[in-house]
Amino acid sequence: MTKTILRALAGETLPTPPIWMMRQAGRYLPEYRATRAQAGDFLSLCYNPELAAEVTLQPIRRYGFDAAILFADILLVPQALGADLWFVTGEGPRLSTITDQAGVDALKPTDAIHDTLNPVYETVRILSRELPPETTLIGFAGAPWTVATYMIAGRGTKDQGPAHALRTGALEVFDALIDRITDATIEYLSMQIKAGAEVVKIFDSWAGSLKGDAFAKYALAPTKRIIDALKARHPGIPVIAFPREGGENYIGFHKSSGADCVALDDSVTPEWAAANVQTDGCVQGNLASRHMVTGGQELVDETRKIVGAFKNGPHIFNLGHGITPDADPENVALMIETVRNFKP
Ligand code: CP3
Repeated sequence: MTKTILRALAGETLPTPPIWMMRQAGRYLPEYRATRAQAGDFLSLCYNPELAAEVTLQPIRRYGFDAAILFADILLVPQALGADLWFVTGEGPRLSTITDQAGVDALKPTDAIHDTLNPVYETVRILSRELPPETTLIGFAGAPWTVATYMIAGRGTKDQGPAHALRTGALEVFDALIDRITDATIEYLSMQIKAGAEVVKIFDSWAGSLKGDAFAKYALAPTKRIIDALKARHPGIPVIAFPREGGENYIGFHKSSGADCVALDDSVTPEWAAANVQTDGCVQGNLASRHMVTGGQELVDETRKIVGAFKNGPHIFNLGHGITPDADPENVALMIETVRNFKP
């Protein structure tokens, strides 16, 4: 029988939505913290296929999620293109910055990315052997805009100011960088699919800071170019797009991008999204991550509200963004139980 996530992605309305969770392998789990300590730092874990596969499997063993997401990071692509990358504990990622054409020209050729990324493909191969037969394996990459914001600023930024400054001040440099990331992302995701990823997800975490024409040009167009290329090479491969905080731009995104599923953050209500987005295909989301910290009756009520609002169309249950390190693992169990026991 076809896996539940693949059925939802194909447009089927299921009596119980399949469920997984962004950042399901992460610091809220004691077993993750133990394996990460064994690996050393975060990047050593990403590039260690056995341990990366182990942390991917941990939330599947503990909770029986319907999907496993490859353990890696969106910033491995810039690193594979030649950027320096390191993580500062308690602060987040740091990268060497790109501010001009010379910086773009200094990036490695697209073909060279696999020299760095080969361990990730090995993680995918291990997982496709070891996952339970009912669990779907999701590969992923960052969308070019979001990845570019980190490559330009050299770190996470609240308003993506440096990237906006480059796209308005040096359009040709910015466009060249977006093209280079898009090309690399196509090859990276294509290799994940060859290694056994059954679905791929494109994370555009900072899409919400692009408005109007800029959203069409830098959130939609590069994502569409990736999806078109992947579907041409791997017919039928399902794609989940996550233009986070897309707001009104979520409307029509299935059709304009070619994505099989649009993932929703929690700034839109499920009622609105059922009426305006789910009409075009599968949606994923969108419980606020804070419920994994706070729990209780509010978690149960909000979970039921989301399952109820999306029950007449294809839906994959998820959070609206990643689970945070301060979450209580018991609350995750309560969310899953609420979804699976839902009766309208
Ligand atoms: O979801 C999963 O379980 C799969 C693995 C995954 C990670 N990062 C592991 C990770 C995925 C899909 C990502 C995506 C990612 N990485 C995004 C897009 C999604 C989003 O959250 O908006 C972004 C923007 C990044 C970049 C990144 N990686 C940042 C900003 C940080 C630091 C913030 C933080 O949470 O500490 C990371 C680190 C990171 N990536 C961790 C994990 C489990 C925590 C690192 C640790 O163990 O210390």
